[in-house]
Amino acid sequence: MTASLQMSFWQEQADSLYPRVSHVIPAMEWPAFSEDIAAILALKEKHNAVILAHNYQTPEIFHCVADVKGDSLALARKAQEVEADVIVMAGVAFMAETAKLLNPSKKVLLPSVEAGCSLADSITAADVRLLRARYPGIPVVTYVNTSADVKAESDICCTSGNARKVIESLGVEEVIMIPDEFLAQNVARETGVKIITWKGHCEVHERFTPEEIRQWRAAWPGLVVLAHPECPPEVVAEADYSGSTAGMSDFVASGKAGRVLLVTECSMSDNLAVEHPEVEFVRPCNLCPHMKHITLSAIRKALERMEVEVTVDASVADRARLSIERMLAV
Ligand code: 13P
Ligand code: SF4
Repeated sequence: MTASLQMSFWQEQADSLYPRVSHVIPAMEWPAFSEDIAAILALKEKHNAVILAHNYQTPEIFHCVADVKGDSLALARKAQEVEADVIVMAGVAFMAETAKLLNPSKKVLLPSVEAGCSLADSITAADVRLLRARYPGIPVVTYVNTSADVKAESDICCTSGNARKVIESLGVEEVIMIPDEFLAQNVARETGVKIITWKGHCEVHERFTPEEIRQWRAAWPGLVVLAHPECPPEVVAEADYSGSTAGMSDFVASGKAGRVLLVTECSMSDNLAVEHPEVEFVRPCNLCPHMKHITLSAIRKALERMEVEVTVDASVADRARLSIERMLAV
């Protein structure tokens, strides 16, 4: 096949995806995406690459170029099973590091170095060592939204999807849970375990308030409210259900709600609207600026230039991997 025939093949493949997302992407916007999608499909084949996408990625990424999709837990689990030479993380830096820790021999690319996380930035390895010195003998449970350095100082990791199970698996009365104060408080209420917390917050979820939720309920009769556990406990208390992004997706898929408010990042509703056009999504939401650094054109450039490659320092990699593997074993 000549190069131009090949490109028209990939262009056709890309355009055949439009009906999938037509519910959330207006036809006039599609041409702005389709050329990058065609190029990405071709580059994935050329480099034997797979794209892992978090639920907060925009629909043209999530539904048109991603091979593996899900919450932080699913991405970590599936990163273990990936058969490819190259992994592109359509997510943020800690997710790319986790994929690298679980795939040391593969090339892992993060399309933007700006894709960080306010939770991961809130704590360092030195902070964890100080906590251990202050509370000797208390196990450290670390949210995956942290750097590999911090994971390396921890006993076990957790995600919002398995935090309760992980803590209960330790069979202790007290744990240190870092760095998300609100997730820790929400889990403490569910488990009854005493939790020493850290003052880290997700800049997306900390902005929601209980008053807003009461106002949305008053404005939208029959509204079912689903909140992420990174929200403050008083916001979670106003919700009908609280769970990870996968938990919220499963709740919507169960058909228990016709009109839904997702108290989380904006792209969640768009992605679920593609799969559940029968559900009405009420859209107040907050954008994650870090997740939004990942765009189709950034993914295309990452695959064209094979950058930015994610590496983890050998001095922390084994210990960090162990804390993730302990979590995956729970
Ligand atoms: P989950 O997808 O694990 O619920 O995490 C949400 C999040 O904020 C990831 O950055
Ligand atoms: Fe971090 Fe919050 Fe953005 Fe997730 S949504 S990457 S926790 S800042």
